[in-house]
Formats: sequence, C-alpha cells, structure tokens
Amino acid sequence: MTGPAHDHDSTGEAGMDGADLTWDAGAQKAGFSLPARFFYDRDIFERECTDIFYKSWQLVAHINELDGPGAFVTLDIIDQSVIVVRGADGVIRAFHNVCRHRGNRLTEERRGVSSAFVCGYHAWTYGTDGALRGAPKTDAIPGFDRSCFGLVPVRVEVFASFIFVNLDDGAKPITEMAPGAEVLIRSHMPDLDTLELIEEVDVPVAANWKVIQENSIEGYHFEYSGPEHKQLAKLIDFSGYRLTPHGEWWTYIGPPKPGTTEAYGVPLEGATWQTDGFFNFGLWPNATLYVFPYADMVGTFIMTPTGPETSTLRFGYYGPKGRAQSEVTKACVRWMNEDLGPEDIRLNVTTQKGLRSLGYQHGVYLIGDGVTNRSELLVRHFHHLCHRAINGSSGA
Ligand code: FES
Ligand SMILES: [Fe+2]
Repeated sequence: MTGPAHDHDSTGEAGMDGADLTWDAGAQKAGFSLPARFFYDRDIFERECTDIFYKSWQLVAHINELDGPGAFVTLDIIDQSVIVVRGADGVIRAFHNVCRHRGNRLTEERRGVSSAFVCGYHAWTYGTDGALRGAPKTDAIPGFDRSCFGLVPVRVEVFASFIFVNLDDGAKPITEMAPGAEVLIRSHMPDLDTLELIEEVDVPVAANWKVIQENSIEGYHFEYSGPEHKQLAKLIDFSGYRLTPHGEWWTYIGPPKPGTTEAYGVPLEGATWQTDGFFNFGLWPNATLYVFPYADMVGTFIMTPTGPETSTLRFGYYGPKGRAQSEVTKACVRWMNEDLGPEDIRLNVTTQKGLRSLGYQHGVYLIGDGVTNRSELLVRHFHHLCHRAINGSSGA
C-alpha cells in the first residue's frame, strides 16, 4: 500500500506564513493519516498556536481549587499565561497574567492565595477583580487614569465542575461544543462536584502534542505495547470497548471485566469506588477527563505544546473531598505516574523520532470491520479536526 504523490486534488494550502498545510485528498480517501511534517514543522506549529491554542477552551483546574476569596491558579498556554482568581465577591474571573505597565509577568506560581497581585517590577498592584489599585508615583503622569489600566480579562467557563479559559472572546460556549456531554460525564463521575486535588504532575515529553493525544485515544496498542497496558486491558471488558467521535468532543469507554478481584496490585475486597468501568471524555483540542476502574478518583490528562516537538503533559488526580483515599486509589495514582504513563511516554518519544525519518511520510489508520475496540477512528477524527482548524482561517 503506497500513498499517491502530491496532486492537485488536495486539501490545504500554503499559508502566507509559509506553512504547507497540504493533506492530499486522495491520500485521505485511501485512509492515509496526517502527513508526518504536521508533527515537526515549525510553520505548522505556529499556525496551531494561533488557530488552535489561542482559540480553544483550555482546562485550568477543578472549581474547588478556588475555594475562597483570593484563591488563584495560573495556566500557561504555550507563550501565553492566564490567571484565574476568585474575587472577594465570590466571582471567578480570568485575566492575562501580565502587568499593564511594562509587560512583566505578574506571577509564576501555579497556585496560591492572595488578596492582590503586586507586580515584582514597580509594584503596580491589582485587585482580584483585576482593577489597578495602586501604581506608585503615577500621579506625576499628566492625565493618568488608573481605571484604564486594569488587568485584561479572559473568557472563563465552568463545565462539569472544571474551570476552562479561552483566549478567543468569540469562542462558542463549551455547552454548545459538547451538547449532552456533561450529563454523560456525571453518570460516570458521581463525585464530580466534591472533588479536591490529590496531586498534579507535570512531565516534559519530547514529542509533538498530537502524538501524545493520538496515543491516548486509541485502544489498538493496549495488548501489544507493554506490560502495564496489559494490566489495564485485564480490568476492562475489551470486547465492549468503544470509541465514539462527537464533533468537537469524544469518548472512549470500556465496561468492567466480570470477576475482577484485584486492580493495580491491590485486592478489591472491601474497597469502594465510584465506578468499575473505564471512562474517558475528550474535549477539543487537548483536555481529557477520565476514571480508571475501581479507583475513587477522577483524572485529568492535558498535553500542551511547548514547541513543535516538545510538550508538557499534565496529570491531575482528584478525589472526593473529606474521604480517605482507598488503597486501590493510591495504587492507581502510583501506577499511572510510575508505570502506565511512562510506558506511553516512551512510545510518544520514539514515535516523534520516527516521524522525522526520511523513510516515513504518513501512516494508515486501523479502521474497518470487526476492530471496533481497537479502532483508530478517533485518531482520524482528531487529525481532521486539527487540519480543519489550521486551514479554516488561513486568509491566504
Ligand atoms: S512592569 Fe509591572 S509595575 Fe512596572
Ligand atoms: Fe496507552
């Protein structure tokens, strides 16, 4: 099976920035995947920054992380940074994390509690409502009006008890992107509103963000890619594993395997859990909420690019507030951090190296009859969303 050479029947175009966005239409029809250069080309990456990451909903934190006035979290979105803070009035607001004076980043903390943000350069001071409260010696500036120099707001939404921000003021609300999703999520995550952060782990990965996402949205590799994946496959009824695209969101769900007596090396006898199934909800472009079988835990899995071939993979673990973590839950978090996660990350890194090979131009999706549970259907779906997003506003 070889792919057709470039022809005129193509989708994509060379943008004004020089990005070659061509994904040959004949190759697409033949089932060939997004060309390899989409995973390392700097011009394409820059297009993704502006057309995907500056325009999409980015998961910041669980709502309970902002549990009182002044509680804040920050999120870096490539070269952008956003502060999300609960004001004295209880309202959650988001702002660009930049001082209006000479552009100093206000805070480098991921989390904190503060009644004000004081710039470390010349001490301009902003309230949690974003207003500029103090600006030393600015009385000397003729006509200076503090009210014109508040922090610049950013869109913020709470969806399924998680906080999301979007740098695009015109973005459609998440409930419009993912109609019906919250009800489904809640049916698999009954403790969603009472979660608290157990642990957050950021891992630098030498791979394009899409390589990490692809790996997470297919089950084809479960039984072949290493011992930890085989462990996961033992906990779910893999014949019932289903991957479902829904436009700008997707799910992959596996029912529990009957008769399971231990998970993550821990006996299940006497343990309690929120769900015995494997459930994953993905929101375009890079957020995943999931539950693992028998763990009393909701996980977040977010890959954010730091360059064309580098990413930060953030693992968040949340458990019901005030409930002691079960041994199974602790074992699950450890297993994800130390065993399953690294097994996937090794594959991401070796895939990234391979994508650079002169011997590889594009791949082929495993999609066909009888492979529902192993299908790379969501990989194809994701590739099309990526390609459409960076073609849609080329203006060329
Ligand atoms: S840059 Fe922030 S006070 Fe000067
Ligand atoms: Fe995996």
